[in-house]
Amino acid sequence: MFIQAIKWVGDTGGFLELIDQRQLPGKFVKLRCSEVEQLCQAIKTLAVRGAPAIGVAAAYGLVLALQKLDAAADLQHGLAALAEAQDCLAATRPTAVNLFWALTRVKKSAHDFVAAHPAAKLEKLHQHIFAQADAIYREDVQMCRRIGQNGEKFIKPGAGILTHCNAGALAAAGQGTALSVMFEAHKKGKKFKVYVDETRPLLQGARLTAWELQQAGIDVTVICDNMAGWLMKQGKINAVITGADRIATNGDAANKIGTYSLSILAREHGIPFYIAAPSSTFDLAIKKGADIPIEQRPAEEVSRFVGTQIAPDGAAVYNPAFDVTEAKDISAIITERGVIEKPNARKVARHLA
Ligand code: MRU
Repeated sequence: MFIQAIKWVGDTGGFLELIDQRQLPGKFVKLRCSEVEQLCQAIKTLAVRGAPAIGVAAAYGLVLALQKLDAAADLQHGLAALAEAQDCLAATRPTAVNLFWALTRVKKSAHDFVAAHPAAKLEKLHQHIFAQADAIYREDVQMCRRIGQNGEKFIKPGAGILTHCNAGALAAAGQGTALSVMFEAHKKGKKFKVYVDETRPLLQGARLTAWELQQAGIDVTVICDNMAGWLMKQGKINAVITGADRIATNGDAANKIGTYSLSILAREHGIPFYIAAPSSTFDLAIKKGADIPIEQRPAEEVSRFVGTQIAPDGAAVYNPAFDVTEAKDISAIITERGVIEKPNARKVARHLA
């Protein structure tokens, strides 16, 4: 059983329980979200993070949005409350498309429900939204497992695998994407070694991925981000596998800052580079990676390290949270539907059709 990063507790009147990922691995603390505003804050500050996870959490955020309304309120009040919550949730993080995908899906479903049942009580709309959020959660669990099953063949017995950031159960409702590939290979009894970039500035690799792999009994070694090239040169890495936050229709993929550099290093060393992501990570409105919005995060994440100032006062800081790996440097994209080898616009369109 995988770590459950997100859990809805109760029925429509319930709450969202999150593992507070800001505190891992030192402290395992659950965060209870009962207000939309509180959930928006949790997403912004990375208490809950990872592309699929924030999509699922946002869908449940719309369930929270209807809790505050008077039982006598009508459906139009319900739709207005959903729109307000959606604005708050959509403003949290701009790069991971799963967030917008989930919000759009639930919103459309709410409007369809109201059009089909104009005289329904608000409670019925609430139940409908709850069922939608639950469906997104359950689908994510299935998709994660299938991604792992479709990708495990890329892990050869005895291999050294490099991953970046965290694309595991902490980043999803299910068992993750890139790490799901490792979990499935492990389940098959394959022995392999995973190297995890620490992933500066927020250390999702060292803090979260190493912790998850350790829990699963997978051989894991943490390295600093600047060590990857040297490990490749030494022949310790046979494949790179990461997740993605948004994929353009030509196959260019945005993921945690540092992923692009790894793709160049992998190409130089002749090492295959895989992206594992659900098909909801493709943004059909974006044709190429250069058009993917890249989140800029606070300067303090770079100028301070675990609470200690590490750059002089007044030093300029640049802190993009993501970068884009070009399709030409991706050996394959692994989704729940299968594998797109050497992705390009034509193959992506066929895969998603
Ligand atoms: O800023 P984060 O921690 O949300 O970034 C997460 C990543 O970049 C993951 O690799 C990505 O979301 C894929 S998660 C399955």
